[in-house]
Amino acid sequence: MSSITAYKGHIVSPISTSGSGDYSFIDYPRGLMVVTDGKLTALGDFDQLSERSDLGTILSQVKIEDFGKRLIMPGLIDMHLHLPQVTQTAKSGQHLLAWLNRYIFPAESKFSDIDYARRIARWFFAELAANGTTLSVVFTTIHKEACNVAFEEAARTHSRVIMGKVMMDLNAPAALCEVTQESLTGSMEMARKWHGAHDGLLQYAFTPRFGVTSTPELLSGTGELWKRFPGTYMHTHLAEAREEIQTVAGLFPEARSYMDMYDRFGLAGERSVFAHAIHLDDGDLDCIKQRGAALAHCPSSNFFLKSGVFAYNRVRQCGCLFGLGSDVAAGPHMSLFEVMKDANFIQPDDWIEPRELIYRSTLGGARALYMDGVVGSLEVGKEADFVVLDPSAKTGVVDDILDQPTDEILSCLVFLGDDRIVERTYVRGRLIFSKALQETGNLASVNLAG
Ligand code: GUN
Ligand code: ZN
Repeated sequence: MSSITAYKGHIVSPISTSGSGDYSFIDYPRGLMVVTDGKLTALGDFDQLSERSDLGTILSQVKIEDFGKRLIMPGLIDMHLHLPQVTQTAKSGQHLLAWLNRYIFPAESKFSDIDYARRIARWFFAELAANGTTLSVVFTTIHKEACNVAFEEAARTHSRVIMGKVMMDLNAPAALCEVTQESLTGSMEMARKWHGAHDGLLQYAFTPRFGVTSTPELLSGTGELWKRFPGTYMHTHLAEAREEIQTVAGLFPEARSYMDMYDRFGLAGERSVFAHAIHLDDGDLDCIKQRGAALAHCPSSNFFLKSGVFAYNRVRQCGCLFGLGSDVAAGPHMSLFEVMKDANFIQPDDWIEPRELIYRSTLGGARALYMDGVVGSLEVGKEADFVVLDPSAKTGVVDDILDQPTDEILSCLVFLGDDRIVERTYVRGRLIFSKALQETGNLASVNLAG
């Protein structure tokens, strides 16, 4: 028997259009959304939908969750962050390579302890849901067992993730430096085990950390493996810090650039995700566009490590696929609302409109991940990944914000939003976070169900 639930509230969502760049949205102040077996089967204005003969009967028989004046939006998509780094947020004061050596590599070494790995994974997925993130692209560590535990926790909490075991076989501390062949074999086993698991909510990403910690053998082996597992992802860092770029140029002198190096190893294509991508030239952007690869822009992290400014307008003009990433822990907050605000603030001369920023962290991210047929917007036929927001939970928000035009609402979310406005998070129609249940101490019964 089908499971049907209807939701009432103020529905706002970007929508797919045939052209690109117009960032169209729907806005139903008295909206209704019907979810059947995890998929959206009807959506629109409540009064109009109730008059439809087929729906009238259904609505009289099913449970209607009424969120009143709260906002219903698609869940947020975080295109790049690190599970093992949640313990290391707000450790400031150094550029990338020094920061990795001082804080991150010691923290990641602890993931050889499986109990510790499970405890942090549990915390990580609870935080993602509490921030309204319903799809994330995640680095773990080099440890296979810790990565297994991360996938198990993702499944248990009904999280939607693209994740992988990190690969490093050069320039890493001894505790994190792998034997090349073991890294490749281990990654292959993980892809086999987890890609498409939990009814497709879990997907695998081959995850070489970056050029600095990779031998040519590791990268060419990853390129071959990635080809052998269609539908999997390739996730890495690209051209984030000057010192990193110089090191990579020394390690791979035959490549024209950092991006060209990845391309030569067959690592650029549909479903490859390059985080940061700050210091690129036109040839690099052209390659990214031609290959259908995606960039994860991580503005909060770029502020925090003082890595530089992503060429937002140039990347957009070039037609490259891109979305936003929190890059926790170099990004100090997991909330994509804060990341959107930083994406605007970090540009010294240009305004990035709230409409576009909300698109980038929902439908635009889904598009960059080739998942816009499944998630990213509230449209009939897509899976019901959504959040319920109460902007008034935040100080500074006027009490009639939801009576204002769409652009004012989106602007309020971008410049004032954070985790405090997230009331509920749903993935494929299942409640995975509820602030009310958290406050009464019953979060575990929801978030850890299944
Ligand atoms: N480049 C290689 N590893 C990392 C990492 O953990 N964080 C960031 N921001 N950049 C990286
Ligand atoms: Zn990163």
